Amino acid sequence: MTNPTNPPHRPGRVEGKVAIITGAASGIGRVTAETLAREGARIALVDLDLEGARAVAAGIESLGGEAIALRADVSAESEIRSAIEATVARFGGLDFLHNNAAITSPDHQRRDGSLLDLDVEIWDATMAVDLRGAMLGCKHAVPHMIRRGGGSIVNTTSNSSLAGDLTLNAYAAAKAGLNALSLSVATAFGKQGVRCNAVSPGLIAGPSFAKVVPPEVQEMLLAEALTPRLGTPQDVANLVLFLASDESAHITGQILRCDGGALSHLPHVSKLRASGKTTNRT
Ligand SMILES: NC(=O)c1ccc[n+]([C@@H]2O[C@H](COP(=O)([O-])OP(=O)(O)OC[C@H]3O[C@@H](n4cnc5c(N)ncnc54)[C@H](O)[C@@H]3O)[C@@H](O)[C@H]2O)c1
Repeated sequence: MTNPTNPPHRPGRVEGKVAIITGAASGIGRVTAETLAREGARIALVDLDLEGARAVAAGIESLGGEAIALRADVSAESEIRSAIEATVARFGGLDFLHNNAAITSPDHQRRDGSLLDLDVEIWDATMAVDLRGAMLGCKHAVPHMIRRGGGSIVNTTSNSSLAGDLTLNAYAAAKAGLNALSLSVATAFGKQGVRCNAVSPGLIAGPSFAKVVPPEVQEMLLAEALTPRLGTPQDVANLVLFLASDESAHITGQILRCDGGALSHLPHVSKLRASGKTTNRT
């Protein structure tokens, strides 16, 4: 008979898997690390911000999970290779890599605003972190996964890579490259059991969203969503969890949007809805 005060252990959806998450000190990476840890994964949190990554790891450990924090700049081959090797040395292998780190600072994004004013340094730094960083992660993670009989990689791309915008030229181009990289990795290593998918968030309402995005812009973004609310880091983490787990064993080479359907409708829809002249009864 089951003791109600001591229920049997329910295996998590990624029980025992070893996962590396880059950019895990903050935002989507942080919530993804916490989510995978709750579902039984052992996590290496890789970030430039070692203190931030340590704080997330401590939170995971305080809840009974297993996590290590490692400092690495994902754009530097020796640093990301060392982080992957340290993870394998600590946990005995590697099952999952989430290439999630990107340059997201408001100052950098402002300087990536207009093509006619775009400095080559901003273009190069964006490509180095957002695209080369993911390539290096794949390059050094795939052999460990093959040794284990397979694994899963998720690259965080962006809707900026799938439709034109008035800003973020370098970011959009880097993320479009990441989409192509995801297809290449899926194609090259699928027969050896390595899956690779890209997850494309729309604008995600993270902790600083309300402070950074003015209310009128929030309204515009919500009008473009097909859902009643904007997305959160947890929404993205839930999709990454699925792609890290064996539940998604037959899903590879996909670019999966997590955007409340923001890119799923014709351009006139939000204006027609606002005009009240839609023929649909709601
Ligand atoms: N938040 C959104 O609305 C949104 C939308 C679409 C795509 N994305 C993508 O999601 C991912 C996470 O975004 P977020 O909003 O959670 O960002 P965030 O700023 O909260 O976190 C990014 C993390 O990456 C780390 N980082 C930056 N450069 C690094 C480097 N060179 N090496 C190692 N770590 C580095 C930072 O220290 C930070 O902890 C990014 O790839 C971003 O492009 C975010």
